[in-house]
Amino acid sequence: MKGRGWILGLALSFACGGEPAPKGGVGGADGGAEDSGGAGEGGADTGPCAEVPLVNYNNFGHSFVLHTCQGCHASTAADRYGAPEDSTFDTVEQVWAQRDRVLARAAAEPPTMPPAGGSSEDDRVRLRWWLECAEEGT
Ligand code: HEC
Repeated sequence: MKGRGWILGLALSFACGGEPAPKGGVGGADGGAEDSGGAGEGGADTGPCAEVPLVNYNNFGHSFVLHTCQGCHASTAADRYGAPEDSTFDTVEQVWAQRDRVLARAAAEPPTMPPAGGSSEDDRVRLRWWLECAEEGT
């Protein structure tokens, strides 16, 4: 599948974002990435979010949650299979309210949500880009 390479490449650099940058490249902290402000808040201009594409509820999260989580975590789910009532993901607000838990369960490697699997590695990378890098609540 084309297009997968760059995603995993970015994912890799994203995963290593906490480490000091290797020599070369943008020496100073303010290498000119300051202008955009489009990558969300929280010092995203130099952090691991600086280079990730804009991923949010509209272009990823809604469809991901709908297909991967709502079978058990929608308020209208026919059978929640025991998913707790307070983990209901009908809206973007509900997902952000449990952001840390969603990341811990669904973006971990290996993930523990959905319980029987079903998300791809690309999904999980995008999930992290969304909930770690997008403007909160979007
Ligand atoms: C097949 C049904 C099913 C699907 C699909 C599913 N879950 Fe769950 N979920 C459960 C059950 C059952 C529990 C309670 C048991 C547990 O915590 O393991 C739960 C609990 C949770 C909790 C609360 C417990 C905690 O650790 O905070 C979160 C958050 C969660 N799921 C997130 C998700 C996300 C995000 C997705 C989609 C990527 C998802 N789940 C998909 C069944 C499901």
